[in-house]
Amino acid sequence: MCGIVGIVSKTPYPSRVLLDRLKRLEYRGYDSYGLYDGRTLLRRIGGIRVEGGGRTTAGIAHTRWATHGGVSERNAHPHLSCDGRVAVVHNGIIENYEELRRGLLRKGHRFTSETDSEVIAHHLEDGLRRRPVEAALPRLFRELKGTFAVLAMVRGRDEIFALKRDSPLVLGAAEGRTILASDIYAFSDWTDRAVFFENDEMAAVGPSGARFFDATGRPIRKPARTFRWEQDRGPRRTAGHYMLKEILEEPAAVGRLLFSLGGDQKPAFDRLVRLIRRTRKVIFASCGTSYHATLLGAYYLHRTGREVQTLIASEFRHFAKVDAETLVVAVSQSGETMDVIDALKYARANGGRIAAIVNVPHSTIQRMSELSLNILAGPEVCVASTKAFVNQAVLLLALARAFGFPVRLETIPDRLRALFRQRARLRAMAVRIARSRDVYIIGRGLTYPVARETALKIKETSYIHAEGMMGGELKHGTIALIEKGTPVLSLINAGDPDIISNTKEVEARGAEIFVLTNHPTLGGDRNAVHLKTANDGKFGILAAAAGQLIAYYAAAALGRPIDKPRNLAKSVTVK
Ligand code: G6P
Repeated sequence: MCGIVGIVSKTPYPSRVLLDRLKRLEYRGYDSYGLYDGRTLLRRIGGIRVEGGGRTTAGIAHTRWATHGGVSERNAHPHLSCDGRVAVVHNGIIENYEELRRGLLRKGHRFTSETDSEVIAHHLEDGLRRRPVEAALPRLFRELKGTFAVLAMVRGRDEIFALKRDSPLVLGAAEGRTILASDIYAFSDWTDRAVFFENDEMAAVGPSGARFFDATGRPIRKPARTFRWEQDRGPRRTAGHYMLKEILEEPAAVGRLLFSLGGDQKPAFDRLVRLIRRTRKVIFASCGTSYHATLLGAYYLHRTGREVQTLIASEFRHFAKVDAETLVVAVSQSGETMDVIDALKYARANGGRIAAIVNVPHSTIQRMSELSLNILAGPEVCVASTKAFVNQAVLLLALARAFGFPVRLETIPDRLRALFRQRARLRAMAVRIARSRDVYIIGRGLTYPVARETALKIKETSYIHAEGMMGGELKHGTIALIEKGTPVLSLINAGDPDIISNTKEVEARGAEIFVLTNHPTLGGDRNAVHLKTANDGKFGILAAAAGQLIAYYAAAALGRPIDKPRNLAKSVTVK
């Protein structure tokens, strides 16, 4: 949530490069954006436009997902101190900003925004009145409460100062340039060398490189690491939308993951299997789409006789009992979701062990875990997660296979390609669903998580009210909402006769039924799409991909901003 970028170069670079890099982080928030290059302060509302003249050797930029203060130019970052000596960008939440603000107001500081972040600029300016920046920064560290990744520029210094506590911050070492950013995607096309900040660390980054310090200002050594971030050479942005491009990349992404699970990730995969086998209690912790993948994973593992639990990370500490015999497996695309990090901290404090399944390499969640696997979906730009979900589900199915779930994973890419050939039928369904304000998606067993995920995708991208639920639960309330013509999408796994009964129950009340099925005879209807697989493990994954396409085409029919839905962000780094 919120993306920050700072670039320091030996030779002057066009300031708009800051916006170009920032655009790569736009999925972290897109309410407003801004930059400061030592001379010019630019702040705008809305999506990032890479524009402007000017050159600089150091500049900072920010793309905002509003928390404190509405969406306005004055609440956009960077924030300047009163005398303009200090400029800051911030990702996170300063919990004691009101208290600090009151103290600074008493000292004569004047605030121009409603944000919590502005207090950082004033606090630093206040510190600089009496001490050099090297001493003012540890004071800032001591006095700020909350979460922050901060980049600060101080007039008269050709450096950027970077501070981190709980919000993500990484440094990319490129040829002749150093870039500070919220995640590696800001610079992954410039360099594969990065330094990952840990909590309560800071840096002074100048033209000749970076110096690192702990929160008290004591120098520390932080070596750069090489990272690998898969780029797909698949179709270019299809119809101008990353969402469709990323769905169509799924066969390649699954192929890459399966190859690596049998190759370079095999030792880690085998260790995870052993760890799960040895541990009395296994709990998945995740949010959003990743949570739905873990529900599917829990189902797969349950079918092998291995019982695991899954919890939404924001409620983890309220529902999970963790002890030394508990393994918590975090599943997260970004590897930065604050609620998941919080669940892991809770698990650690209670003596539990931690493993992770992430997409973004070297992310915080990966670094917190004693063992981690990468889903290798590659960069996912559309805020609504698609190929990452599929790869999470495939990895969890592979895990279940290690416990005895019968499935041939190797055919998944081809099955997905066959599904994509039915796009026209899915689009026709989507166009009809898009005419309604509400849609219900029902599943049972392994299609229940898929129903939830499909509903989430539809809500996120088309803004249609969608409920994904257990078919059996329908008659305990929701069926009251079914009227003549209400669309109900039923996910019918051939092996489950009960979901057919649930579908009949709503049909009898006038619902317009749409079906995704691998049932040999049910798929012929004009409102049905047949997914070719006799294996129900694979059916779950194919049905989810079909649901993604339905959501995409419904959003397209309604002309929604598909890749950047209102109010959402891809990486949720606040609680
Ligand atoms: C946000 C994103 C979702 C994602 C969820 C969890 O809500 O928009 O796409 O599923 O966060 O994120 P994670 O990175 O932990 O998977």
